[in-house]
Amino acid sequence: MATPVMDKVEAESAASPYITVTFRVRRFNPEVSAEATWEDFQLEIDPKERVLDGLHKIKWDLDGTLTFRRSCAHGICGSDAMRINGRNRLACKTLIKDINPEKPITVEPIKGLTVLKDLVVDMEPFFQAYRDVMPFLVTTGNEPTRERLQSAEDRERFDDTTKCILCAACTSSCPVFWNDGQYFGPAAIVNAHRFIFDSRDEAGEQRLEILNDKDGVWRCRTTFNCTDACPRGIEVTKAIQEVKRALITRRF
Ligand code: SF4
Ligand code: F3S
Ligand code: FES
Repeated sequence: MATPVMDKVEAESAASPYITVTFRVRRFNPEVSAEATWEDFQLEIDPKERVLDGLHKIKWDLDGTLTFRRSCAHGICGSDAMRINGRNRLACKTLIKDINPEKPITVEPIKGLTVLKDLVVDMEPFFQAYRDVMPFLVTTGNEPTRERLQSAEDRERFDDTTKCILCAACTSSCPVFWNDGQYFGPAAIVNAHRFIFDSRDEAGEQRLEILNDKDGVWRCRTTFNCTDACPRGIEVTKAIQEVKRALITRRF
């Protein structure tokens, strides 16, 4: 016979936000096997939680060896880009309810970079391309005695590309980069754009020459994967087109 206490428990359980979800995670440990494998984990999770929360549940409650990067957990640091259901996304910005939790949720490392362990890839080639485009303000013999002024219109020209968080979602979704990893990649070009179009900077020509390389902007085939993948909504392909145009016209 139901009691008021049992009714209350049943009502609470009926109202429980938790659902059972399968996380299908690509596992790789070079110390154990040369082959990557898929591993399934069943989780009780609130669909309003994020994929990153699911990975934390696995690591903290089920398998402490699961390896992935994350830091801020709020879409700022760019460290947790991964392929979720076949698309590059930030795990900390992807809600379970938005990616069909009725089917297994696949989680894999981003493509085109060497996998070190589980979801962790070697980011060094990515950051080397970033360093190569000189991602800093260059001025010579023009030391200001006050802040460097810039009109609102001039600031607007590179506003979009200042939003980059270097997550590599764009570069690792680019088929040209997958080919051989030699292409500078969209993220490096976005960060070159940010300074090429800055009216205070004096190294635009130099950066354009760097990107005129055989592995530079001309390798872009305008496939737009990078724009689709960018979690910051940056118009990546448009920025690349602007750099190409600047190379032809030398006006920037
Ligand atoms: Fe990430 Fe977008 Fe920057 Fe590419 S352009 S690294 S996708 S934030
Ligand atoms: Fe690659 Fe983006 Fe160009 S996906 S081909 S860099 S438009
Ligand atoms: Fe920092 Fe996701 S953990 S962007």
